[in-house]
Amino acid sequence: MPERKRIGILTSGGDCAGLNAVIRAVTHCAVDSYGWEVLGICKATHGLMSRPPEAIPLDITQVDRLLTMGGTILGTTNKGDPFAFPMSNGELRDRSQEIIAGYQQLDLDALIGIGGDGSLAILRKLAQQGGINLVGIPKTIDNDVGITERSIGFDTAVNIATEAIDRLHFTAASHSRVMILEVMGRDAGHIALNAGIAGGANMIMIPEIPYKIENICDHIKKRQARGQDYSIAVVSEAVCTEAGEVLEQGHFADCRLGGIGQYLAEQITQKSGAETRVTVLGHTQRGGISSPLDRILASAFGVAAVELIAQEKYDHMVAWHDRQVTSVPIADAIKDYRAVNPEDTLVKTARGLGICLGD
Ligand code: F6P
Repeated sequence: MPERKRIGILTSGGDCAGLNAVIRAVTHCAVDSYGWEVLGICKATHGLMSRPPEAIPLDITQVDRLLTMGGTILGTTNKGDPFAFPMSNGELRDRSQEIIAGYQQLDLDALIGIGGDGSLAILRKLAQQGGINLVGIPKTIDNDVGITERSIGFDTAVNIATEAIDRLHFTAASHSRVMILEVMGRDAGHIALNAGIAGGANMIMIPEIPYKIENICDHIKKRQARGQDYSIAVVSEAVCTEAGEVLEQGHFADCRLGGIGQYLAEQITQKSGAETRVTVLGHTQRGGISSPLDRILASAFGVAAVELIAQEKYDHMVAWHDRQVTSVPIADAIKDYRAVNPEDTLVKTARGLGICLGD
C-alpha cells in the first residue's frame, strides 16, 4: 500500500450538480481504500489564500449523504484570477505565492482540483510554479473541456433544459405560439443541441452555426402551412444578433451573457407575425439534484483521481473516453476548447429530424 498521504480537494469555477458526489467519492476512496486524510479546501483557491488556510477535514460520515446534493459544500468562486487578483483598492495583485504557501502550510501531498478549463489552467499554472501535485477533474455544464467526452454537471443541465422544453410544448400548442427557451453554455452550444433534440424542439440556434432570421421565419411558416401552428426554439446564450453583436445582461465588469432569446422573439414577431414568448432558464440549469449519469460520472472520476494520486501520476486530468475513465495531461485537456463541431453527429441528427438550425 502506498505511504499515508494527506490530500486536499477544492471546487473551482461555477457550481454545478455532481460536485458533492465527487467530494463523496474522493473521500470514500481515499479514506476507505488507502487510509489517507482528506481536507476540503473552502471557496476554491481563496481558501488557500486565507490565513490560516480555510479547510475542513472530511470523513466518511460527513460525506455520506452528499451523493444527490446540488452545489458544493466547499463553496466555490468563478472570480479572481490569483495571478491578477482584484484588491479592494482597485489594484490587481499576483497572489499565487500565497496560495502555494497555503498548500504547504496544510502539509498536503497532493491536490484534487475540480474545475472547467479556466480553473484547470489556473490551477496548473500554480502547480507548476509551486510544485503542487495536482490532479484535475473536469466539471462544467457547458461540456466544453477538451478531450473528455463528458464533464460533471452537463447531463443534469441537459435534463433540466429538456424538462423545460417538455413543459413549454403544452403552452406553445395551446396558444399557437412560438416559445423560445434561452439556455446557458457560454461559447459552446452543447446544452442547446442536446436538450433541443431530447425535447423535440423545432429550431435550435447555437453559436457555432450562423443563422438568418429569415430562415427561422420560413421554418415557422412552413410548419404553420402544415397545420403545426406552434413552434419551440432553443437558443444558446452566446448566439449573437444577426449583425454579430454579443448580448449581455446589464453593465457589469464581467461578461454575463443574456438577451438573445428576447432579441429573437422581437425579430420573429416583426418578420413572421407569430406570437412569441421567452423563457430564460438561467441558473436553474446548475442546481438541484444531480442526474444518475452525473452521479455515476462523479463517482468514477472521484475514484480515478485518487488512483492517479496513488500512482503519483500528477499534472493529469481524469477524462471520459470510449465508455471508460482514462487520464490525460492537463495541458492537453485545456489546449483544445471543445465547441460543437458543425459536422457533429448530433448536428446531423438535428438536420435529419427536420430541426431548423437557422442556416
Ligand atoms: O460556465 C458555466 C456557466 O453557467 C455558463 O454557462 C454561464 O454563462 C456562466 O457560467 C454564468 O456564470 P455566473 O454564475 O457567474 O453568472
